[in-house]
Amino acid sequence: MSNPDKIQRLRDLKYQSSLGGGEARIKQQHTKGKLTARERLELLLDKGSFVELDRFVTHRSHDFGAEQQRFLGDGVVTGYGTLDKRLVYVFSQDFTVFGGALSEAHAEKICKVLDLAMKNGAPIIGLNDSGGARIQEGVVSLGGYADIFLRNTLASGVIPQISLVMGPCAGGAVYSPAITDFIIMVKETSYMFVTGPEVVKTVTHEDVSFETLGGALTHASASGVAHFAADGEEDAIFLVQKLLSYLPQNNLEDPPFVRAEDDPLRSDETLDNLVPEEPNKPYDMREVITRVVDDGEFLEVMQNFGGNILIGYARLGGRSVGIVANQPAVLAGVLDINASTKAARFVRFCDCFNIPLVTFVDVPGFLPGTTQEHGGIIRHGAKLLYAYAEATVPKLTVITRKAYGGAYDVMSSKHLRGDINLAWPSAEIAVMGPEGAVNIIFRREIAEAASPEETRARLVADYREKFANPYVAASRGYIDAVIEPRETRPRLINALEMLQNKRDVNPPKKHGNIPL
Ligand code: HXC
Repeated sequence: MSNPDKIQRLRDLKYQSSLGGGEARIKQQHTKGKLTARERLELLLDKGSFVELDRFVTHRSHDFGAEQQRFLGDGVVTGYGTLDKRLVYVFSQDFTVFGGALSEAHAEKICKVLDLAMKNGAPIIGLNDSGGARIQEGVVSLGGYADIFLRNTLASGVIPQISLVMGPCAGGAVYSPAITDFIIMVKETSYMFVTGPEVVKTVTHEDVSFETLGGALTHASASGVAHFAADGEEDAIFLVQKLLSYLPQNNLEDPPFVRAEDDPLRSDETLDNLVPEEPNKPYDMREVITRVVDDGEFLEVMQNFGGNILIGYARLGGRSVGIVANQPAVLAGVLDINASTKAARFVRFCDCFNIPLVTFVDVPGFLPGTTQEHGGIIRHGAKLLYAYAEATVPKLTVITRKAYGGAYDVMSSKHLRGDINLAWPSAEIAVMGPEGAVNIIFRREIAEAASPEETRARLVADYREKFANPYVAASRGYIDAVIEPRETRPRLINALEMLQNKRDVNPPKKHGNIPL
């Protein structure tokens, strides 16, 4: 064969591999409203930057008709490229080949890019669209999954790992995305579950659709498995790009600095009147956040789950920060099981990747009741406490209103190595709210008083005057400064700059034992 013929052969093979399972199946994929594995990568990565690896890999199975279906690439497109000019590794499962099912060779391709991502310290983005373990391959396929799980686990905290779920992701296959840092699902075309509707019907006699059992909205709101539910594949890809802009390439780097137009010294008078005079009246903490951060841009994570706490990314003076904030507009901002686990994992992610934490506090305490106690609020609440306590990144706290009881301690208090703890004049820092406190310590006086209600009101007012303010905490140094709300932005940016070279360590250990 002449050289030109050899080159032509290579071109033919490349063309063949680009068709995955063939034109008819590509058409089917489009009919379902889904893009192909390659089209998705084209959208995700900078134009022309994708470098493919292993495009001639094929499976090694001979059973159940597999022999007759040997497609180049074996159902997954892998490689690397750039996203906003930064290196990323990718794998994109191709549903047109055996429904994207995972074979031994398919798993090896994914493991190869995971290994490269780890060695070279760059994020890995997995685009999942798969019928699970390749049935024809049996245990070899299960082994392939475990090889991926192991790498996901070892990479955790070393490089950011993002999973896009763009089709089926069922059975044990869900555990690779579950170990990664972020799951972005696409509404209506993706689903995740350990056992599908048919098995559910046999075992529990429940009749449930794919969407209700494991669709994007279910996981973004009910289970908390998904961090984002995207409106379509393009929206999902846009979210990855946005998310990565806040993250460093690996745990040894700092997040990228993005200079903002927004003046670091900008003050905002609206903040002075944002907290209502009435202590139990709600307000939207999102407004506080957007008024303080650069250009009002806040990328909220897990927006529809555990709404009583807000988490997400923003920038202050060009620096990435992870924001955790009680949300008084939902359940009065109380800490419950979902809020605790949601925020705890976020705090730990930020700590892994050198992203300073900014915590806005307005918390009446932990949610009382048998549902919470029996559901384990003790161990789940402990996760958040533990996460804040072990975090060594710069930690800034702003108490806007309530900081009561154990929740005061938990929410990045000075005692958990908070670096700069600020309070607004409206802050109320005490063991519990005035009503509860008065009912306990003055029970007898109130019962014996000529007019109990008047007495109670007077005692509540006294208590509020004495304890429900920031000055007792400030006199102890638990609060570094009581500031005017309008000064919040310049104060936080100043503190972040001051803490730029912060060094803090935990005692040497194999790893801690966070209450899981
Ligand atoms: C081999 C598979 C496959 C699989 C689908 N296909 N799943 N081939 N192994 N697991 C093939 C089909 O034969 C078909 O081939 C093509 O992919 C498309 O599948 P369809 O069924 O036509 O597509 P659709 O109607 O969209 O249904 C998609 C699906 C369904 C819901 C994913 O295919 C399905 O239920 N598959 C089985 C899912 C499953 O039980 N997987 C194992 C889970 S256990 P042709 O040639 O017709 O195009 C597991 C364990 C992991 O994954 C353990 C890790 C620890």
